Amino acid sequence: MSADPKFTKIRSELDLRRSRHLYRSTRISDSPQHPHMHIDGKPLLAFCSNDYLGLANHPAVIQAFQQAANIYGVGSGAAHLVNGHSRPHQQLEEALAAFTGRERALLFSTGYMANLGVVNALLSGRNDVVYADRLNHASLVDAGLLSGAKLIRYPHNDTTSLGKRLLAQADNANTQLILTDGVFSMDGDVAPLAKLAVMARHHDAWLMVDDAHGFGVLGNTGAGLVEAQGLTPTDVPILMATLGKALGTAGAFIAGSHDLIEYLIQTARTFIYTTAQPPAIAAATLASLQLVQTESWRREQLLALIQQFRQGATQLGLPLMASDTAIQPILVGSSGQALAISRQLEERGLLVTAIRPPTVPDGTARLRVTLSAAHTATDVEQLLTALAQIWT
Ligand SMILES: Cc1ncc(COP(=O)(O)O)c(C=O)c1O
Repeated sequence: MSADPKFTKIRSELDLRRSRHLYRSTRISDSPQHPHMHIDGKPLLAFCSNDYLGLANHPAVIQAFQQAANIYGVGSGAAHLVNGHSRPHQQLEEALAAFTGRERALLFSTGYMANLGVVNALLSGRNDVVYADRLNHASLVDAGLLSGAKLIRYPHNDTTSLGKRLLAQADNANTQLILTDGVFSMDGDVAPLAKLAVMARHHDAWLMVDDAHGFGVLGNTGAGLVEAQGLTPTDVPILMATLGKALGTAGAFIAGSHDLIEYLIQTARTFIYTTAQPPAIAAATLASLQLVQTESWRREQLLALIQQFRQGATQLGLPLMASDTAIQPILVGSSGQALAISRQLEERGLLVTAIRPPTVPDGTARLRVTLSAAHTATDVEQLLTALAQIWT
């Protein structure tokens, strides 16, 4: 072991995390993304994926990926603005714009990069203000911090507090941006978009919604939370969604007006200075977008499973959180206890990850149960049975 003080310091930081039950490590999967997985050498029934519609391993999506790889190869070779923007990228952007009812869409290689890119393109200095829900995803928090704008966090979904903060800045703010998750990733509840849209309009602020966990799942056609809450592109001028969750592939996009997208193409550094995602990913996403639109039974199946789980968990008296979405966290409190329950579930063949600080606030560690259209009612029953054994 190195005696170098720099290493001593990071070792003691690691020890501290272990002692607080906050240590994290990767696990190795030898199977495709599916409820029944093979992880760390054993079969596990997983309730922790964001593959909400069961598309990550769909034969039509795999076939589209393979066919595009035969034509375009694997790597895109360059950034979109050099020569990395291929036909499938263009087709996907057009399909995403049409699906979300917007003039244009722009692909990013990850959701994290999309968020960093947009916020930093729109905000540039101390007179700009970003208002962020306290439970926003880390990528939105980082986007705000990196922008150098004044970052004001408001209590979760509390539009009254947001209103006060907007008023307080009214005289000296330049560009203002309200940033919110659509579906909150660790809580499963949703943002009050109609109220946020009114406030944004009133204060002449941008409203940006990160619909990573709503896109594909919510709304009649699967277009997401904006559709589910009956809002228009004028209400929510900046829509971000990821493609690695319900769509089952990878990457993300921003959808908005022609001018917004042109501006991002010129200024969003995480779009300009990075290699385009592989064309085969875009082709696979086109196939999964088709399935989102034609196979509404997946959303219906997911909804039925959510209801089954909530009903069963309520009967067991489990501390469910106020969520109607595929994210159904069970609030535990202490990190040690959340880890212990997760381990007990694993001993029974079930994988549910314990989510601990700093991903969630101190004292609110939880088991983040997520459901997928690929689960069956029997799978959910198995989870409820195991939870009943552990909780009593
Ligand atoms: C709300 C939210 N936004 C953004 C991201 C980042 O997306 P990506 O995984 O594509 O980087 C995630 C999770 O990954 C998320 O949950």
